[in-house]
Amino acid sequence: MSERTLCPPERRVAEVRDVRRLGAYDLISARDLAGPADPSPGQFYMLATGDRWGGGSGERPYLPRAFSFARVRPGAGGGADLQFLLEDVGPGTRRLGELKPGEALMLLGPLGEPFTPPPRGSSAVLVGGGIGTAPILALHDERPAAPVVLGFRSAAHAEAVALFGEVAALMTDDGSAGRQGLVTEPLREHLDADPSATVYACGPPQMLEAVRALCEERGVSAQLALEAGMACGYGACFGCVVETKDGFKRVCVDGPVFQAADLESAA
Ligand SMILES: Cc1cc2nc3c(=O)[nH]c(=O)nc-3n(C[C@H](O)[C@H](O)[C@H](O)COP(=O)(O)OP(=O)(O)OC[C@H]3O[C@@H](n4cnc5c(N)ncnc54)[C@H](O)[C@@H]3O)c2cc1C
Ligand code: FES
Repeated sequence: MSERTLCPPERRVAEVRDVRRLGAYDLISARDLAGPADPSPGQFYMLATGDRWGGGSGERPYLPRAFSFARVRPGAGGGADLQFLLEDVGPGTRRLGELKPGEALMLLGPLGEPFTPPPRGSSAVLVGGGIGTAPILALHDERPAAPVVLGFRSAAHAEAVALFGEVAALMTDDGSAGRQGLVTEPLREHLDADPSATVYACGPPQMLEAVRALCEERGVSAQLALEAGMACGYGACFGCVVETKDGFKRVCVDGPVFQAADLESAA
């Protein structure tokens, strides 16, 4: 188990400061006065809105949803200023994207096992795909010198690249921004030049599996941030299990970051 920032025991209220449209995504900024200022990249929060979170007539009562924090700064009056990057894929993400400044964001976190530093003598290379870019941004803030490889469906999704200082390669499925192709192409080139690098990746399952297979083929160490449907976020419901070489593990407490070598498959 890594050194990680522990979650205060209760769900708390953060104040929404801003919600900004960034191409295909929403960027939510919130002041978490009562939370820790130092969540570690890869950790996540369970989020819900303070009102209109389902349960009304014609609405389904929502469980909170899991989101990696994308950026953290120490809060002016204590706590943390947090940013979350969201893709509208359903009712929860849509409602969160409708939040207005001053409204309540209910949160629990930081939760889960974060990315851990590369072994001595190994450099880091960061790989993000789609909304999986969120925890990679947090890692980029911590390791600005590490090369970043990002992949998106289209130019609208690739607008998230503006949050990064510099990226080594930008790929899109349709070639509407950067190069057309998959993130594994520039990653392969990078590993040709730096075969002892440690790979840090988050993205859709097919991308993570391609990264895992490439790293296995090269004997390269990799840490993968997985996603799974989560009901509780803290180990109680067993709704988020994935199969590893050491049996079933809960993504919320044993992950979301796993060593690629511990997985048969990331898809
Ligand atoms: C550790 C972790 C970190 C995450 N970080 C982010 C993030 O930074 N930004 C972001 O936009 N999303 C993130 N997600 C995914 C996010 O939690 C889901 O997209 C969200 O729960 C969808 O809620 P909804 O009500 O909008 O849609 P729902 O109605 O719940 O789902 C819409 C569609 O998405 C699928 N889906 C829902 N949850 C997941 C999931 N966890 N994994 C795969 N498919 C899912 C459903 O099967 C359905 O097809 C993360 C998930 C995990 C587990
Ligand atoms: S989400 Fe409940 S055990 Fe992981």
